[in-house]
Amino acid sequence: PAPDAPPQDLAGRHVVVSAGGTREPLDPVRYLGNRSSGRQGHALAQAARRRGARVTLVAANVGLPALEGVETVAVETTEQLRDGVRSAAKDADAVVMAAAVADYRPEASATSKIKKSGDDPLVLRLVQNPDILAELASERLRPGQVIVGFAAETGDDGASVLDHGRAKALRKGADLMVVNAVGEGRGFGTTDNEVTILDRDAEIVATASGSKDTVADAVWDAVLAHL
Ligand code: CTP
Ligand code: CA
Repeated sequence: PAPDAPPQDLAGRHVVVSAGGTREPLDPVRYLGNRSSGRQGHALAQAARRRGARVTLVAANVGLPALEGVETVAVETTEQLRDGVRSAAKDADAVVMAAAVADYRPEASATSKIKKSGDDPLVLRLVQNPDILAELASERLRPGQVIVGFAAETGDDGASVLDHGRAKALRKGADLMVVNAVGEGRGFGTTDNEVTILDRDAEIVATASGSKDTVADAVWDAVLAHL
């Protein structure tokens, strides 16, 4: 191999990555969604491919060029993302949930375009979506598979980014939680990242900063330590 060829340390492994952000239809032309670009998920899929894995990318509304050698399943809603991830996870060694999943969806999607009604405000009733990560962590669709979540957090008066990340790591039951600070130009839509990787007991196992490719390799290093 070329001197700068990446180690093939994921050869023989099947990994599943979710990317992007889910959208929940309000009517045939409108949706509730988020600003996730899908770049971190893409970087994770590409890094795993480079390191020799078979990769399934479940991509929610990602407007990026297709990745060579990566099986990509395009989805829109949380329900579709859940189906795509779960079916690929049945024989996966690791599942990384990098997608921003809509926490709520409209209770019903109108079959025709919602029209304005006079000057009245519009009230939407939202119901909670299933927590795909928590389900994967508790069910382990394949025994021994490594489950990884991402937590994009902001600090607030009561707690720091890491406090929120720790609480989430403990709550979700995933093997690894990748915590990053967002807001003030960090995280969403940017090319650089600074993350702390926690284990299921919320202990720090690694930190990484730099490009999303650097973060992706740090995540796979941490996954490998669990395989
Ligand atoms: N996630 C998921 N299903 C959901 C919501 C989130 O699988 N319905 C996953 C995300 O893909 C991510 C992790 O859970 O890997 C953390 O997402 P986050 O939105 O930070 O967690 P929530 O439990 O939704 O908490 P919050 O109230 O802070 O949004
Ligand atoms: Ca959420």
